[in-house]
Amino acid sequence: MKRYFIHTFGCQMNVNDTNRMGEALASMSYSATPTADNADLIILNTCSIREKAEDKMLSALGRYRQVKLQRGALIGVGGCVAQQEKDKILEKVPYVDFVFGPDAIGKLPEIIARIETEKVRVVETAWVDSESYVFPQADPRSSVGRTTEFVTVMKGCDNVCAFCVVPHTRGREVSRPFTEVLQEVARLTTVGVREVTLVGQNVNSYLGGISFAQLLLRTAQVPGIERVRFTTSHPHDLSDELVEAFRVEPKIMSHFHLPVQSGSNEVLVRMKRDYTIANYLERLAKLRAVRPDIAVTTDIIVGYPGETEEDFEKTYQLCVDVGFDGTYTFVYSPRPKTIAGLKEAEWGPVAHEVKVKRLEKLNALQKKVSVALMSQHVGGTVEVLVEGTSRTNAAKRFGRTSHNRVVNFDGDAPIGALVEIKVDSSSQSSLGGVQGRVISLPNVAIPEVAPVAESCVVA
Ligand code: SAH
Ligand code: SF4
Ligand code: F3S
Repeated sequence: MKRYFIHTFGCQMNVNDTNRMGEALASMSYSATPTADNADLIILNTCSIREKAEDKMLSALGRYRQVKLQRGALIGVGGCVAQQEKDKILEKVPYVDFVFGPDAIGKLPEIIARIETEKVRVVETAWVDSESYVFPQADPRSSVGRTTEFVTVMKGCDNVCAFCVVPHTRGREVSRPFTEVLQEVARLTTVGVREVTLVGQNVNSYLGGISFAQLLLRTAQVPGIERVRFTTSHPHDLSDELVEAFRVEPKIMSHFHLPVQSGSNEVLVRMKRDYTIANYLERLAKLRAVRPDIAVTTDIIVGYPGETEEDFEKTYQLCVDVGFDGTYTFVYSPRPKTIAGLKEAEWGPVAHEVKVKRLEKLNALQKKVSVALMSQHVGGTVEVLVEGTSRTNAAKRFGRTSHNRVVNFDGDAPIGALVEIKVDSSSQSSLGGVQGRVISLPNVAIPEVAPVAESCVVA
C-alpha cells in the first residue's frame, strides 16, 4: 500500500479539503502517514491569504524535495496558491509533479494515474463556477476519533473586500443544497460526531434552498447533534433572522466570529467592507440582547494602505469598547490582483515598523482583556464537550465551552462526553479544572485514535 502525506496551510476550508483529498486517495489504496519522510505522495494544500503563507509553502517544498530525491515521492501543490500561481509554481519549482485547484480534488485519482502512466506534469485548475458544482461528500470514516467536525456549506466568495485574495482563488459563491448538508451531518453522527461547525467564507449569504438561519436551526434538529457552530460571517449580512436563531435555539453555541477589520470608517470604505462601525455595533447589540454573554471574536488588519495613527486609535478604541473574546490581528500584506494591492502606492503604504508597533499594541490590549474574561470562570462550572487528550499536557483531557474556550482538565470522560468542569485556573487562552458530573455520552463509543485523513495542519 502506498502512503500519502498532506501538509495543510490556511483556513477551515482547506482543512476540509484535505480530508476530501484523503478520501479520494483512499479510493486508490493510499493510506495516510503522519510524516513526510516515508511518503510516496506529498501534497501541499496551500493558502495565499498573506505573503507569509506563501513563503511557508515555498520553504516546506524545499524540505520535501529531499524525500523526492531519496524515495521518488510524487509532489503536488493544491489549494489557493496553486489556483492563482500555477504557472509560477511549475516554472520555479521543477520537482513539482502536479498542481491542482480547490475544485479539482475529485480528480486527484485521475491526475495521479496520468502522471504514473504518461510521466507528465499535470495542471488542473479549472473552476466549476455554476450551480452545477457538486460538493464532495464527506466520508464519516475520516471523522472517526472526532466528536466535532467541519461541514462545508458553500464555496467561494462574492464580496470584493479590497485586500482579499479569496475571490481570486476560490471563485464565485456556490451554496451547497441544504438537503446535502443535513444528510452529511446525519452521517457524521453515526461515528459519534455531536458538534458541527458549518463553514464557508461568507456563510450569512448562504442560498442553498433555505436561509442560513434556517439551516442552523435544521442542523440543530438532527438527532445526535448537541452543538452547532459556524464560520465565517460578514457583518453586512448578519440578519435579524440569524439573531432570532440565537434566541430560540440553545444548541447554537454562544460564540460569534465577526471580523471587523478596522475601527475607522474611512479605512472600511477603502477596504470595501460595506458597513460602518455604527452598523457593526448595532448588529452586535442585537446579538447581545438575545445572548448577553456571547463570546465575540474578530479579525483586524493593521497598517492597511493609508491607515493613519488616528485611524488606528479608532481600532484600538473599538477593541476597548467591545471587549472581544479574541482578536486575530494581521499586518496588511498586499496580494496579487486585489484592489488594495494595486492602489497601495496611491493610498500610502504604511512602514513595516509602524505596522508591527500597532499590531503589538492591539495584542497587548487583547491579552489584558482575555486574561480578565477567562479569570471570571475560576471558581465556577463550565460545560465542555470532550475532544480527547489535551494538546498541551498529555496527562489531561481537553474540550471546549459553548464560548469556544479551551479547557484542560483532570478526568477520564471519553471523547464525545458532555461534562461539567469545575474551573480552578485560567490563562489568556485556556481554563484548567477538574471533571464533575457527566451530562451525556455519545451514542457510539469514539476510539482514542488520530483521525485518519489529517496528516498535519499548520496555520
Ligand atoms: N471570509 C472571512 C475572511 C477570511 S480571511 C471574512 O470575510 O471574514 C481571514 C482574515 O485574514 C481576514 O478576516 C483578514 O483579517 C485577514 N486578511 C485577509 N487578507 C489579508 C491581507 N491581504 N493582509 C492581511 N490580512 C489579511
Ligand atoms: Fe475575503 Fe471579504 Fe470574501 Fe472574507 S468576505 S473571503 S475578506 S472577500
Ligand atoms: Fe487561505 Fe484560501 Fe482559506 S487563501 S484562508 S486557504 S480560502
